[in-house]
Amino acid sequence: MTPTDTSAYGTRRTAVVTGATRGLGLHAVRALAATPGWRVVLAVRDVDEGQRVAADLGAEADVVGLDLASLDGVRTAAAELADRHARLDALVLNAGVQVSRADRTTEDGFELTFGVNHLGHFLLTTLLADALAPGARIVAVSSGTHYGTLRKSGPFPRPKWRPARELARPDGGSGQVAYSTSKLANVLFAYEAARRLEGRADVNAFDPGLMPSTGLARDYPPWALRIYARVAPAIERFMPGAAQPAEAGRALARLVTDPALAGVTGRYFAGGRPRRSSPATYDRARAADLWRESAALTG
Ligand SMILES: NC(=O)c1ccc[n+]([C@@H]2O[C@H](COP(=O)([O-])OP(=O)(O)OC[C@H]3O[C@@H](n4cnc5c(N)ncnc54)[C@H](OP(=O)(O)O)[C@@H]3O)[C@@H](O)[C@H]2O)c1
Repeated sequence: MTPTDTSAYGTRRTAVVTGATRGLGLHAVRALAATPGWRVVLAVRDVDEGQRVAADLGAEADVVGLDLASLDGVRTAAAELADRHARLDALVLNAGVQVSRADRTTEDGFELTFGVNHLGHFLLTTLLADALAPGARIVAVSSGTHYGTLRKSGPFPRPKWRPARELARPDGGSGQVAYSTSKLANVLFAYEAARRLEGRADVNAFDPGLMPSTGLARDYPPWALRIYARVAPAIERFMPGAAQPAEAGRALARLVTDPALAGVTGRYFAGGRPRRSSPATYDRARAADLWRESAALTG
């Protein structure tokens, strides 16, 4: 597709999916591309891989380079998306990382997990807000780890909330704590965006369930990855709260395409069902602070 050529897509709706080359994002674009009336834009770090995925979809798809670990990269991608597409009907904020220690940084010096999972998506959304079609849908992919309770998150470490400027600072602490905290930020962001975009866009958070077969754990030690690979199929099939990526991808796509969900906003969905998120996510002052500080951090 050539830049600014939107005519080829007629009245079809356009969904942008970040991190669409593997894992949950790959399955979500497959489900979206197979839905009549929808087309997809893969916003991905590896454009060559994105082109390969797009070619395999059997449907028209566009690919835009996006590195969420670079504020300049996000700005360039947002400009390209707005320029190439007359209307954006959905933003699926799916890309994510989990690292072993919170000492790695984005290009701008932010702690990598918070920088990619929250700040990059925050900037992308705010830059594209004016390009959204009326009634557009935004879905922030979060995780059950945001609850931080044994029942909901298992032994995964609980979030440790601090002001955004502190969360953005690499401190060499646990990468898993940085991850669960970033997933709490995703829900706070979704609820605040739902309030700020009320009447213009529906914004919800989504927990796909535990999916050990995706690439999310790739930073774990090799021995842990070997165990993970062995047990993943059984966990995804039989463990309550776990999901197969294809099934989770379909549930995620449904949040974008299901006409019955028009106007549903500011909710948390686990798989396909609405659920209450953790008590901390309903703290409006915290969500507003996160928004303000994220705006300051991303300029
Ligand atoms: N797996 C689980 O158990 C689980 C559970 C709950 C929630 N989630 C959430 O589901 C979402 C998808 O994760 P997944 O499990 O599918 O993991 P995954 O297979 O590792 O996919 C993550 C995607 O994010 C992309 N990404 C990473 N860093 C990026 C960056 N700097 N800029 C742009 N894209 C970047 C990756 O791109 P590359 O392909 O280029 O690396 C990849 O496409 C995440 O938000 C995660 O938190 C996962």
